[in-house]
Amino acid sequence: MKSNTTLYPATVVALRDLTPTVREFEIQPSAGSAATWQAGAHLQMEVMVNGRAQIRSYSLVGLPSAGHGQRYSIAVKRMDDGRGGSQAMWRLAVGDTLAVSQPQNHFPLDLSAQHYLLVAGGIGITPLVMMAQQLQAHALKTGATLRMLYGVRTQDELALLPLLRETLGDALQTFVGERNETMDLAAEIAALPAGAQLYTCGPVPLLEAIKKTWTAAGRALADLRFETFGSSGRFPAQAFRVCVPRHQIDIMVPADTTLLDALEQAGVEAIADCRRGECGLCTMDVLALEGEADHRDVFLSEHEKQESRRICPCVSRVVGSLTLDSAYRPEPQG
Ligand code: FES
Repeated sequence: MKSNTTLYPATVVALRDLTPTVREFEIQPSAGSAATWQAGAHLQMEVMVNGRAQIRSYSLVGLPSAGHGQRYSIAVKRMDDGRGGSQAMWRLAVGDTLAVSQPQNHFPLDLSAQHYLLVAGGIGITPLVMMAQQLQAHALKTGATLRMLYGVRTQDELALLPLLRETLGDALQTFVGERNETMDLAAEIAALPAGAQLYTCGPVPLLEAIKKTWTAAGRALADLRFETFGSSGRFPAQAFRVCVPRHQIDIMVPADTTLLDALEQAGVEAIADCRRGECGLCTMDVLALEGEADHRDVFLSEHEKQESRRICPCVSRVVGSLTLDSAYRPEPQG
């Protein structure tokens, strides 16, 4: 069964380059105004990659505002070695149409805490912008404390900086360079009062490091909320072979296609929801692995990733070849 998200026609009404590799898209649904949304929400949208329709998720940037006429705003980083979705988005021009879902939210903000730390890595800043806006308003009313750490590799990757500075002032700290040389996660987490919540979005290695540091500090996992964009792994994406004996499938997964998309194109109906390596709904059993798995999800535990008995095909890949089982059972014919 595929995700049963309904997509609606929409139009690109404005484009703005935020950095040399991050472009903001304003999208207007064809049928009137955009539905409203809360901090942490994202849109699913259909993009054409190599002539095939594929689904991608993009966080909404900024709170809904009447001044925007309830348009959706997303920011897309162009990944030249990615799966092709961002390049397809970057080919869109003002006036082009596309199909988008209504806002969905797997990363909601809980306003019951008194202290908040937001940590963004690269384009992972996108869902945290709205959180910063909402938390700053919340802090003014309640006295809650808020701090944001925003790390990028190079200075020109600091997208949305003017808006963040205006929203957060001194509560924003930026870091430029390799994360390990700049952000002191252990010190930041140690400085948080008890009961603080940490929200983070960024590449999987950053999220894994935060999870490890958070747990080592004795913090409750329930107070750590994260979202990934599931695009970075240990190895560059490359083609690999996958077999699903139950369905007599033996195919190559191209470098620019996810394992999940390749299986769906081959006729396997996989169960999936987030398609970002977070919900675990798409997880499949690994029957055999030749080579190395490149687990890019944040759902499986470290132990499960080492064992590689399961894999999240929406984001994870292998270097080598893989034999899988699928829970999908085709309807009997006739
Ligand atoms: S669909 Fe959510 S982890 Fe794959």
